[in-house]
Amino acid sequence: MTIKNSPARPNAAEFAWQVDDVFGRIASRYDQLSDVFSFGIHRLWKRRVAQRIAAENWSTLLDGATGTGDIILRVAQRASTRNRTIIASDISKKMLAIAEQRLREHKELVSLCLLDAENMPSIGSSSIDAYSISLGLKICNRRLAIQEALRVLKPGGRLIILEASNIPWNFLNRAYLVYMSVCMPMLGWLATGGDASAYKYLLQGIRDFPTAEELARELESHGFEEVQFERLSLGIVAIHTARKPSKAELQNTTETP
Ligand SMILES: C[S@@+](CC[C@H](N)C(=O)[O-])C[C@H]1O[C@@H](n2cnc3c(N)ncnc32)[C@H](O)[C@@H]1O
Repeated sequence: MTIKNSPARPNAAEFAWQVDDVFGRIASRYDQLSDVFSFGIHRLWKRRVAQRIAAENWSTLLDGATGTGDIILRVAQRASTRNRTIIASDISKKMLAIAEQRLREHKELVSLCLLDAENMPSIGSSSIDAYSISLGLKICNRRLAIQEALRVLKPGGRLIILEASNIPWNFLNRAYLVYMSVCMPMLGWLATGGDASAYKYLLQGIRDFPTAEELARELESHGFEEVQFERLSLGIVAIHTARKPSKAELQNTTETP
């Protein structure tokens, strides 16, 4: 398993990851903190999204913002290794170093790559069968990250997104956001010995993220088809899936006057 580099450039989530690796600073505690914040429920989300990813028809899977490899480990445990390749990528070297450790038994299947999900010049256009991104889209420039996913996917390729979403009942959604606003920075601050910066970004991302319906429309407006979503845990998160149009469909679109 090798870590390949791609050229550095600023991150549009308003932190300069080259000089301030906010996620790198919490990398060693990230998985335990996820258990604390979600009372362990993130494991169910990750299991479900891993099932969905593994069930898709792909030879090459690219996972953006892979973090500690928690989801890709679950995919690797499910996916047949025959003729399959997984590229697990992230912008944080420290996160990737942990992912490398965790995925060491799956070296044949998984390679690690330092990539900015907003701009992945080392990944060829139309070269990937399936692209997944989990709990990372909300801290990226969403428009750039979705455009980049569309570029790297082969025609007919599949997109799978696990991300924060909305509970359709307003009062419950508000109560959840209050809980997160109080607990996330406080626990993050305590657990990191006074550095809650990563959790502030995550919280901001959760608050500002579109509803499941809005994200579905956004994916369609970028050109994705067959957009569907599944709410998990009342809608705290949702899994969106979509398909890049086939070659013929893309040709028809460009030929239509
Ligand atoms: C909340 S963690 C999610 C990690 C993993 N997908 C999971 O679900 O456990 C967010 C990850 O996104 C990464 N990240 C943030 N901005 C990124 C970008 N522009 N490109 C790639 N990764 C990014 C962070 O380094 C961090 O590892």
